[in-house]
Amino acid sequence: MISVDYTFVLKDVIGENGLEKIDIGKYENDVSKAIDTIIEDHEKGKLSFLNLPSDFSPVQEIESFVRDMPFSYENIIIVGIGGSSLGIQAIYQALLPYYNNIFGKPKVFFLENVDPETIYEFFENIEIEKSIAVVITKSGSTAETMSQFMILKDVFDKKFKEKASERIIVITDPEKGDLLKIAKKEGFKTFAIPQNVGGRFSVLTPVGLLPAELAGIPSRKILEGAESVLNKIKNKDIFKNPAALVAVILLEYFKRGRNIYVMFPYSSKLYLLADWFRQLWAESLGKRYDKSGKEIKWGQTPVKALGAVDQHSQVQLYMEGPDDKIFGFLEVKNKRKDMKIPEILEEYSSTSYLRGHKISALIDSEKKGTELALAKNGKPSFTYTFEKISPESIGEFFIMMEMQTAIAGEILNLDTYNQPGVELGKKLTYAFLGREGFDLSAVRDILTKVKK
Ligand code: PA5
Repeated sequence: MISVDYTFVLKDVIGENGLEKIDIGKYENDVSKAIDTIIEDHEKGKLSFLNLPSDFSPVQEIESFVRDMPFSYENIIIVGIGGSSLGIQAIYQALLPYYNNIFGKPKVFFLENVDPETIYEFFENIEIEKSIAVVITKSGSTAETMSQFMILKDVFDKKFKEKASERIIVITDPEKGDLLKIAKKEGFKTFAIPQNVGGRFSVLTPVGLLPAELAGIPSRKILEGAESVLNKIKNKDIFKNPAALVAVILLEYFKRGRNIYVMFPYSSKLYLLADWFRQLWAESLGKRYDKSGKEIKWGQTPVKALGAVDQHSQVQLYMEGPDDKIFGFLEVKNKRKDMKIPEILEEYSSTSYLRGHKISALIDSEKKGTELALAKNGKPSFTYTFEKISPESIGEFFIMMEMQTAIAGEILNLDTYNQPGVELGKKLTYAFLGREGFDLSAVRDILTKVKK
């Protein structure tokens, strides 16, 4: 359902900034070892993300839970952040009507950032009596999520009294964490995130699947799409494995100074896939040390851009700015809906050429124009073509990107699944709020300098 075309990274096409096939092929051993390690880690139970697409038991539980809900709802409130939110946002944007929150039902809301103004405005306006909430946190303790859960629980308790617990669903670690304890005490329905699946790799667990099903999106199909591509992304032939191919292209270009990867969907409905991917690529591969403890400071900054909108915002920089970027377009071959531009206004040069064309022809031409213009400027790009946007193709994209990230991490010999760099900031936040056991000693030297 998704194919990758890398014509515009080839030297023959874009000139000296391009790659020869041998520049890709030379990673054959690295890719083969990486895939072996990833599969072995799954067999040993150290990892689980690749097992998710062939395990339909969570989907069965989700389907029957949603089918048997004892009440109806018009608002779904998702409380979570990072890997406990971004994938759901991407699923909803791709698979619900684009203006669903204005024209459709159920409406979907995200309590994600701890911006007091947006939270206030949300609770001031939301019709609580028509709402259900899904609280998602793998650790069961994330400050942004727990604080908003506390506000939400208080509001739900006041509105629904003893029935409040029916309206709050929790997705968290199956064995540990405060949210699990709270859920058990309060009688909230819980769904599990398997222990060896990290936040940013969790979209194919109940984290993505339950919110999908609650909004009427067949979660089973998302998983089926991911399952359909499993063999392909385990293939050791780089040229037959899109996950390996793109991993290698990005690694090779990083070596050549392209430390920014612009994911560039020419589809508003796929835009948040790029946002989900940003977390995956940045948090997994932005690492100071490799597994042997050697300082590597690796990291290719993922950037998202939207076609055609960012042609009027970013493309000037992309065309003429530094040679530090590689571009990955996303395009949709068969649009589910389309419109013809009416055959009016023939007398003006800026309208007459548009008459009778479909809008799809316009956006496709803009994508081709940008791709070719970049190539003409020696800027490499490749394209993911979605046959169409569907639950299956979205599922396929998720698992493909996860495998691509895992392969890149193995080749770089770093720990793809941790995020030590975010710990200090978290601890300092706790210290500022007076959490027991946390203080500012780690940054005392800087604070002294700042005071001076
Ligand atoms: O990938 C990760 O593990 C993190 O970025 C998490 O998704 C994020 O910090 C949210 O964590 P949690 O789900 O524990 O609330």
